Amino acid sequence: MEQTFVILKPSTISRSLVGDIIERYQRKGLKIAGVKMMQLDEKILREHYAHLVDRPFFPLLLKSMMATPVIVMVLEGKDAVSVVRTMTGATNARLAAPGTIRGDFGMSGQENLVHASDSVENAKIEVARFFRPEEIFNYDLITASAIYSPDEMN
Ligand code: PPS
Repeated sequence: MEQTFVILKPSTISRSLVGDIIERYQRKGLKIAGVKMMQLDEKILREHYAHLVDRPFFPLLLKSMMATPVIVMVLEGKDAVSVVRTMTGATNARLAAPGTIRGDFGMSGQENLVHASDSVENAKIEVARFFRPEEIFNYDLITASAIYSPDEMN
């Protein structure tokens, strides 16, 4: 099964939406393969957002992402990367579709609640950046046969 990487950003922590957002992923049928709280620093953020360091909003992005600890997660499921991106919605939460996390809970491009990997390749890089191998768990969801047909479980 595919894995993807999610950050519940400081906007989620500050607005006490951790439970609401994790509940959405679980109710969808995604499995939590890893989860922990951590304080991000400038070093890891410069790596994670390397493609954005020259953007004018980068200093604000850094400040925002260090405002509180965050919760990082590895979610697992069939096509997990695209499923989670669809559930997350457009970067600018004001434009995100109703029914998506950003569309239902957000009003901002920066304070947009969650980060989710945008490709399978980046998901692998991001999981390895934020998690040690022993922090990711390999177990069976006993509900899997009610979530997937047998030919979808690989
Ligand atoms: S872009 O603009 O398409 O290259 O951006 P993207 O790769 O989607 O990532 C944008 C991330 O930067 C955060 N951010 C902002 N984006 C746009 N405008 C402003 N002002 C801004 N400030 C911060 C945005 O939340 C995206 O973070 P992630 O964690 O990737 O969702």
